[in-house]
Amino acid sequence: MATPHINAKDGAFAETVLMPGDPLRAKMIAETFLEGAEQVTNVRNVFGYTGSYKGKRLSVMAHGMGIPSASIYTTELIKDYGVKNIIRIGSCGAVTPNIKLRELFIAMGASTDSKVNRMRFNDHDYAAIADYTLLRTLVDTAAEQGKKVTVGNVFSADLFYGVQPNMLDVLSKMQVNVIEMELAGIYAVAAQYGARAAGILTVSDIIPTGEATSAEERQTSFRDMMEVALDAAIK
Ligand code: HPA
Repeated sequence: MATPHINAKDGAFAETVLMPGDPLRAKMIAETFLEGAEQVTNVRNVFGYTGSYKGKRLSVMAHGMGIPSASIYTTELIKDYGVKNIIRIGSCGAVTPNIKLRELFIAMGASTDSKVNRMRFNDHDYAAIADYTLLRTLVDTAAEQGKKVTVGNVFSADLFYGVQPNMLDVLSKMQVNVIEMELAGIYAVAAQYGARAAGILTVSDIIPTGEATSAEERQTSFRDMMEVALDAAIK
């Protein structure tokens, strides 16, 4: 049955869904990497597709930007469409000097300035973590492909513009390596509704210096990330 934000038929999604932020990226992934991909939902132009990869059924659907948007789509996919595994594929800004431009980062935990997990957790501090099996599969797949990844803590920020300047020092001191905008929400939604989630990210900018990848570099690191995410998704 359709939900307020997804108009797919029952059973339209595979057990595993890869989720970029951008709907056009979801379309591009479906067209480039999946065989026999069909569009299964288009509400608000937030596109979702199901096809197969190396013979296994696989879906890709956008989650939009920020925790509120990502929480809506992941909740409905898990609760109403029976999705079991969510892999966020996105980009992030590096905060700590050990993380370099174009590298891959796998999010073991997600800290946040959002209040959503306090709302879920009696106003206490919930440790939003990736599913261990999914995390390990991503890490092992990257190793098999000879790709360097760093595994660590992300900061899921509510504000893209206007993160407090001293926050960068706090993140660095606490060894929170990168900033993105969704995983603390996605990890908690997965826990709440009994699914598994993990996130793999490319480093698109270095926040303290303002250094950013060129369009061409973004393509290369995106392909590296996709190769890991796709092979991990069908294991
Ligand atoms: N902030 C939040 N999300 C991001 C960033 C950033 O600097 N870069 C890529 N995703």
